[in-house]
Amino acid sequence: MMLGHSQLAGLGPRARVLDEAFVGAVLDGLSMAQKTLPCRYFYDARGSDLFEQITELEEYYPMRTEASILKAHAAALMGGATSDSVLVEFGSGSSRKTEFLLAELPPGAAYVPIDVSPDALAQARVRLARRYPALDIRPVVGDFSDAVRFPQGLRGRPRVGFFPGSTIGNLHRPDAAKLLSRFKTLLGGSGRLIIGVDLKKDKTILENAYNDRLGVTAEFNLNLLARINREIEPAFDLEAFTHTALYNDLEGRIEMHLVSQLDQAFEIRGRPFRMRAGESIHTENSYKYAASEFQALAERAGWSPASVRTDPRGLFSVHVLT
Ligand code: TRP
Repeated sequence: MMLGHSQLAGLGPRARVLDEAFVGAVLDGLSMAQKTLPCRYFYDARGSDLFEQITELEEYYPMRTEASILKAHAAALMGGATSDSVLVEFGSGSSRKTEFLLAELPPGAAYVPIDVSPDALAQARVRLARRYPALDIRPVVGDFSDAVRFPQGLRGRPRVGFFPGSTIGNLHRPDAAKLLSRFKTLLGGSGRLIIGVDLKKDKTILENAYNDRLGVTAEFNLNLLARINREIEPAFDLEAFTHTALYNDLEGRIEMHLVSQLDQAFEIRGRPFRMRAGESIHTENSYKYAASEFQALAERAGWSPASVRTDPRGLFSVHVLT
């Protein structure tokens, strides 16, 4: 099922249900001692577009480094794929890096891209259908962390999961383990998972990757507030917040925050909130894992680490779990 944004808006009751989940999450997050906003809401049409721009930034090494690993090792990563295989991608976005893997699939194999953005899925489908006419493409609109309805007709075929972009790092470690075991259930007993994980490294490289000079990451982060302004009510003065990203050594993660530049008050759905100058809204974490550390996490989730590949500079890793 493919829906554009205009069609979604036209759905009425369903659109309102989505809105209320967003409102609830915003009110809950802003009511905590350390204010937070859930990162899943970054990806509206504008956010997905800004994220694509982030992946092309000079400072943002993960995307291009991961692509280089996938390109160099595509055949080995997809080894054993047959015309029966189904490649399932969790959070597929533009599906660009996936092309290295899709090129290794024999005719008849299927690709199930799962993403919250109907626009991103629609665009990817058009491009991929042209490029791989023998590929059976079955997009699924949805959040990969929810129960996903697997396309009819593909049940019973061997599944290979693909979870790139170090998205696993955006979850706290216990939640990351839980998600890995959900993927295991979805992919089945003989399923494999190819997963991209950003490595621990020099703090400056990490902090620069999330503080680009062009300010795209800042705009991406601020888009959360802009989205609240657009979809709930005009609550925030965007000028009163700045983006920061800092590496937290103790936790082994990059933290993104929106820092209030002044003492301020705002209201959402009649609920009053205040922030002091310097106080922040914590919007996202990006955990970094040494290869062995990630393998231990995967084992806790019931997977067996089969291989791990990195780039020559040791910036990023691609694991295969079975
Ligand atoms: N998961 C990737 C990372 O943590 C991509 C990503 C998610 C990202 N949210 C982001 C990159 C926000 C920059 C800013 O690196």
